[in-house]
Amino acid sequence: MLDNFVSLTELEKMAEYADKVRSLIKNKSLRAFVITLGCQQNEADSERIKGILVSLGYTITDDEKIADAIIVNTCAIREHAEKRALSIIGRYKHNKAKNPDTVIGVCGCMSAQEHRSEHLKRSYHYVDFAFGTGSLHRLPEFIYGALTKAKRSFVLDTERPQIAEGLPVVRECAHRAWVSIMYGCNNFCTYCIVPYVRGRERSRMPEDIIKEVRELVESGCKDITLLGQNVNSYGKELDGGYDIAYLLREISKIEGDFWIHLMTSHPKDASDALIEALSCKSVANHFHLPLQSGSSPILKRMNRHYDIDRYLEIIDKLKRQNPSITLTTDIIVGFPGESDEDFEKTLEVIRRVEYDSVYSFVFSPRKGTPAYSMEDQIPEEIKKERFERLTELQNEISRKKNEAMVGKTVRVLVDGKSKNNDKIYTSRTEGNKIVHFEADKDYTGQFINLKIIRTDTFALYGEI
Ligand code: 5AD
Ligand code: SF4
Repeated sequence: MLDNFVSLTELEKMAEYADKVRSLIKNKSLRAFVITLGCQQNEADSERIKGILVSLGYTITDDEKIADAIIVNTCAIREHAEKRALSIIGRYKHNKAKNPDTVIGVCGCMSAQEHRSEHLKRSYHYVDFAFGTGSLHRLPEFIYGALTKAKRSFVLDTERPQIAEGLPVVRECAHRAWVSIMYGCNNFCTYCIVPYVRGRERSRMPEDIIKEVRELVESGCKDITLLGQNVNSYGKELDGGYDIAYLLREISKIEGDFWIHLMTSHPKDASDALIEALSCKSVANHFHLPLQSGSSPILKRMNRHYDIDRYLEIIDKLKRQNPSITLTTDIIVGFPGESDEDFEKTLEVIRRVEYDSVYSFVFSPRKGTPAYSMEDQIPEEIKKERFERLTELQNEISRKKNEAMVGKTVRVLVDGKSKNNDKIYTSRTEGNKIVHFEADKDYTGQFINLKIIRTDTFALYGEI
């Protein structure tokens, strides 16, 4: 179990490099810019990256043009994400040309792949370092190497990546927060790059998580998302028989008015104990259960370890326990070998479950995963057509479900003023539905009740 955590020696090394960087940049008023692509795990990692940068003496800026250090936190889940990351990295060539002292680093899932790391090293000479998601604690060392122009570092987390507890954090938002409860994934779904770039599952100790959640609640945070690639298998490799149900029960003992969300779950590990624990105080009335495909043979080729009957059994249990639960899912269209019939089965499940929202993706072959070299790849135009049909069906369901909310009163957490209109505020329900409303007073960060007065496909509109 101890193998899960970065050793004390490593942390001491981190502190030594941090001291060296601090004395190098002291009194220089340097600014750092961090750009985040991809999922909530990356958002959470970026908050730690910013925390480390601030501890080194940098000020965080939103303006990349004036930044003395730039970190690009990349995603590799689909080809589009990697292309976007490379194009963003490309534009920082000018920053380095203008100011050769600018530190440029790349991290996250894209740079954790050997071929990408090599490519960055060879073709992007202005990139000082690139590292994977398991090496955040080495950032001071990489920055020191860049500032002293002593070495460029390209580090893959080829050894088992480990958890560094206690890294500083700069949180983006006071009333919503991410708390990583575990890292990595053991599932090797055949389409997915994550297990190759984030390593095997490793869980944080429950007491560290509970302490972090308690501190957040005490500081006024109202919505906390427990993060992991598959939070349902939380604690499996820890001694002590911990599981996600235990963690939810313990967190629900924390006093205060707040929501706990989970992101994300694997149906194969959605135990009855977990479903029961969802009714604990503070646990949000929302469950995200990735379906990926509505066809059992495709699920088998995806290596998902459940069939459609089992999936629907879990959904039925969730609905029986709490008929008003908000259900959301992830679906991939155009997986290799997906026939029209398989795709129809996916639409059937969507009709049957009536999700509140669906995150749908066109299958993107990822080099290094089994699905990359599977025969029967689906032509792009068919994938696109299926994607559009699925979106159309789900939009109709979302619209219908939203319409049914008119006249009802919902509790929301207010996020702040809308970007386009100064009088309109944006908020979200427990099930993450967006509700816009007008107000003269600023309720940002507070729970309020709104009566829904009208809706469209993507949002609800309410009044106080
Ligand atoms: N192509 C398309 N979508 C993918 N996802 C993961 N890998 C791929 C891929 N290669 C989707 C899955 C997952 C979500 C985060 O991204 O639906 O649940
Ligand atoms: Fe990828 Fe599957 Fe792991 Fe999710 S459970 S991160 S889809 S391999």
